[in-house]
Amino acid sequence: MAKGRIFSGMRPTGKLHIGHMSVITNWVRLQEEYQCFFAPVDWHALTTGYEDTSMLQENTMDMLMDWLAVGLDPEKSTIFIQSHVKEHAELNLLLSMTTPLSWLERCPTYKEQLQQLGEGRDIRTYGFLGYPVLMAADILVYRADTVPVGEDQLPHLELSREIVRRFNYIYQQEVFPEPQPKLAKISMLPGVDKRKMSKSYNNDIAITLTAEDLWERVRNMVTDPQRIRKTDPGDPEVCVVHTYNKIYNIDEVPERVEQCKTAGIGCFQCKRALADKMIEVLEPIWERRAQLEQNPGYVHEVIAAGAQKARKEAGETLDIVREVMKLK
Ligand code: TRP
Repeated sequence: MAKGRIFSGMRPTGKLHIGHMSVITNWVRLQEEYQCFFAPVDWHALTTGYEDTSMLQENTMDMLMDWLAVGLDPEKSTIFIQSHVKEHAELNLLLSMTTPLSWLERCPTYKEQLQQLGEGRDIRTYGFLGYPVLMAADILVYRADTVPVGEDQLPHLELSREIVRRFNYIYQQEVFPEPQPKLAKISMLPGVDKRKMSKSYNNDIAITLTAEDLWERVRNMVTDPQRIRKTDPGDPEVCVVHTYNKIYNIDEVPERVEQCKTAGIGCFQCKRALADKMIEVLEPIWERRAQLEQNPGYVHEVIAAGAQKARKEAGETLDIVREVMKLK
């Protein structure tokens, strides 16, 4: 049975937080069923961060090590860095010829980001406008049919499909399949203060941290603000610890809910139990991460071999593309 093909990428923002972990865990599962290509997309990082690139390399390596520590397996998936496979850039160029400007200008993420990032950073650039074309190139250069993404990426994927339809129509060939999004049922963990988890809010929990730092974060989790004394009954539905228990401590959820509602357990004790469960889950990942850090040569080998495999696949696609565009 021919396997479906997946490409997915992530902008290298450095060490991942446990909110990302469910995304990577989902990729880890998909490795079994699909032929997968995964890449930190460093060129995409430049679209908004071209001025200060001092952390780009380090962020890319940190992200890769987190991927490998969580369980992406270079024996199963092709793992590489986007900018190491120049074919993405060539296809980006060719697709930019056929993509109408109006499609890019009306892309909702483009309009939003121009407003949000607009102050301070100048992202009125050709590269930033072309973000979705580069993303289409990432996917199409492997003729991937399936793309695991979050909901926020759906407009980009719609654009990729429009780009495919137009390309196939203009050159009268079925060169590319229309890539379909694969939305996972991933529950987004909130930050410790209940807002969206983000490094910039300082409310995140890194995948790799010390047990003490983890405890520090869990201890700061926002619980039911109405529960002032230990003897007050609490409402788990408004408590961040409860949300985390549903992921990390599922077996104890009914008991904890009961204890919370009847003031049978204090928040401190409840948090300690959660931290212990999280440590249980994260410890093997911390160990693998530590091993990888001691062996950067291994990570470099992985991405070198990955880029080689990726280039071969991408090269085959570009041979076809050049042919239908009469470039050779
Ligand atoms: N735009 C994606 C994000 O911000 C990252 C990305 C770049 C991507 N190229 C991709 C995701 C191709 C899936 C497929 O999350």
